[in-house]
Amino acid sequence: MPLGFVALEETSMVNYDMHVLGVLKSHHGQGIGSKLLEQAEKYARKKSKKYMTVKTLSADHSDLNYRKTRRFYEQKGYEHLEVFKTLWDENNPCLMMIKSLHHSILEISDTLRLRQVEKSDYKTAVKWYSNENILWYSENRKESYSMDEITKMYEFLSKNDALYFIEIFESYWKPIGDVTLSRDRMPMVICPEYQGKGIGSIVLSFLLDYARTLGYDRIKLSGIYLYNHNSLATYKKQGFIETYRDEQKIYMEKLL
Ligand SMILES: CC(C)(COP(=O)(O)OP(=O)(O)OC[C@H]1O[C@@H](n2cnc3c(N)ncnc32)[C@H](O)[C@@H]1OP(=O)(O)O)[C@@H](O)C(=O)NCCC(=O)NCCS
Repeated sequence: MPLGFVALEETSMVNYDMHVLGVLKSHHGQGIGSKLLEQAEKYARKKSKKYMTVKTLSADHSDLNYRKTRRFYEQKGYEHLEVFKTLWDENNPCLMMIKSLHHSILEISDTLRLRQVEKSDYKTAVKWYSNENILWYSENRKESYSMDEITKMYEFLSKNDALYFIEIFESYWKPIGDVTLSRDRMPMVICPEYQGKGIGSIVLSFLLDYARTLGYDRIKLSGIYLYNHNSLATYKKQGFIETYRDEQKIYMEKLL
């Protein structure tokens, strides 16, 4: 039985407008809309589109259902672009939302990829930041992170930098850690079951090549704890060199 549908309209060489996305009311809340949207965005990327736009009722209208719709798109990374007060008619102010599809997924291989983190992903990280190995080596603490702390950390990392989930394909794309790319930091966390298998090295090597294509000339690390031998080995293997150390951390950088 068909449960939903999506239709895309090519509005320019670089954009698809999501003309309509709908799921049967009886099947709301089961992730079907998210999957449809994910497939639509994947298709758009395949067609080399840079953006996806969607038009919905603006917040000037009091309809509560559309508040949910706007929240859904916001959670998926869509931003408010412009309100067109009369495009539909005066009683139905139209909000155009937009998402950049560019680089939100970096394919490393058929089974490994980086996917830019969205707000709705934050809860996935709770189990990583409750794990004693990760907390100790990455954060030098023992108490689990609360959802609030994860939100603050991820908002900070996504604000100026690119924050990705590391995902492997095991019948679905499974997030196994996070990594950030910026000129001033490059923290990475891989959940313990997947550590020591070479994944961290592949991810770093890929991101360093990618950073070169973005025109970066060097990357500094925000500091690795002295006792974190695995992490020090991982970054050293990629050519990072110690620039200085204090009583807690070693600071490294790499010229690209
Ligand atoms: C540090 C971390 C990101 C490295 O990722 P990874 O996928 O485990 O690293 P790799 O498997 O590519 O290993 C790279 C090198 O690190 C060392 N290493 C990493 N993990 C190791 C492990 N569990 N056992 C032995 N050696 C390990 C090895 O020297 C390896 O070099 P080799 O391939 O020549 O043997 C990951 O182990 C991790 O998330 N650790 C906990 C959190 C953390 O410390 N984050 C870094 C904060 S700066």
